[in-house]
Amino acid sequence: MDDVKTIVLGVTGGIAAYKSVELVSRLRKRGYTVHVIETAHATEFVTPLTFSTMSNQPCIVDTFERPETWNVKHISLAQAADLFVIAPATANILAKMAHGIADDMLSTTVLATKASVLVAPAMNTGMWTAQATQENMWILKNRGVHVIGPEGGRLACGDSGEGRMSEPSAIEEAIIALLHPLQDLKGLRVMVTAGATREYLDPVRFISNESSGRMGFAIASAAAARGAEVTLVRGITSVAPPDCHTVQVKSTQDLYDAVTGLCQDMDVVIQAAAPCDYRVRDVAQQKIKKNAGEPLILEMIENPDIAAEVGRRKKPGQILVGFAAESEKLTEHASEKLVRKNLDLIVANDVTKPGAGFNTDTNIVTLITKNQQTDLPIMSKREVADRILDEVVRLRQG
Ligand code: PMT
Repeated sequence: MDDVKTIVLGVTGGIAAYKSVELVSRLRKRGYTVHVIETAHATEFVTPLTFSTMSNQPCIVDTFERPETWNVKHISLAQAADLFVIAPATANILAKMAHGIADDMLSTTVLATKASVLVAPAMNTGMWTAQATQENMWILKNRGVHVIGPEGGRLACGDSGEGRMSEPSAIEEAIIALLHPLQDLKGLRVMVTAGATREYLDPVRFISNESSGRMGFAIASAAAARGAEVTLVRGITSVAPPDCHTVQVKSTQDLYDAVTGLCQDMDVVIQAAAPCDYRVRDVAQQKIKKNAGEPLILEMIENPDIAAEVGRRKKPGQILVGFAAESEKLTEHASEKLVRKNLDLIVANDVTKPGAGFNTDTNIVTLITKNQQTDLPIMSKREVADRILDEVVRLRQG
């Protein structure tokens, strides 16, 4: 292990709390420093003394007689954490986290931390499948909280269904993966395009589309997390961009200039942007005036196809990924683009499906290469991004 990592483990009140004793033991054997925070309810299941003994650190419990150091302690633990784990995580703590409620030691500390957070939910099936819990899970996932489980099976309350906490060994694996993330794109230069382009008719009006930038941003931040040197070429977007080297563009011609200027230096080019295919032939210099009920007729000309041009200039060993936004004949149209644009992989999304395409947090895609087609279920755009990058790694290995 490179350096000693610190894990703050929050334990909330559920029967699965006993499994967290084994988790602490496993993590200690791996050489991690583990600080346990129990909620008052959790102490009904496992005593603080058990966790103190297993972790070799004082177990922190929120009590009515808060010690003077209470405030300082929660901030120092929040800062010390390389990873914050909550196992078991009850519906109650998940709801508090989703809504920023900080009313005890654990909820206060997790709110203050900048570390990655992993939760292992455990509860009765009815509570897990309740709309409130599922909506809270969406909020947390979209905020980047990692989730393991829950598993299906027989629950302590006698019911059967989803709600069991994942086994300590599985949680341990997830912790190791988060503390020592995959660096399989290290040393690679990856360009990602994101967002819409804008084509002006006159100084105040334009044609564009609903791309928010979410899909491209998710790919850029996932690639950076996996060690790539990322260049993001960003059109018009409506969400916060990731922190990486960025080139801002507006029109399709700008996007063309930026991408073709940089593509020779790139190992991987992933084009998730939605460029306008057409622009107005003659952009009016002044605002177009209404003409007594007469229709406005615009002549549109074709914009350059950026992905096709990058495909023409493709270097040996370079991996080119495009997207296909379709409203019908998804795989047929996408496969045609794969060949015409000389791509290695095309990510086809039917943008008419709820939960897919423009301006959503999720996507439903089919990954198509020359000899393989993989349909993925609905997932967050970050998860889609990682699946695309897994495929890029596989394609590079030949
Ligand atoms: O940004 P979000 O709100 O998250 O939405 C995500 C998305 C729907 C924009 C994304 O998932 C997506 O599908 N992006 C591609 C949109 C598109 O332009 O699709 P297309 O089928 O028209 O183009 C095919 C490919 O050629 C794309 O990689 C596109 O970037 C590229 N292209 C298109 C036109 C053009 N003139 N030049 C291009 O390079």
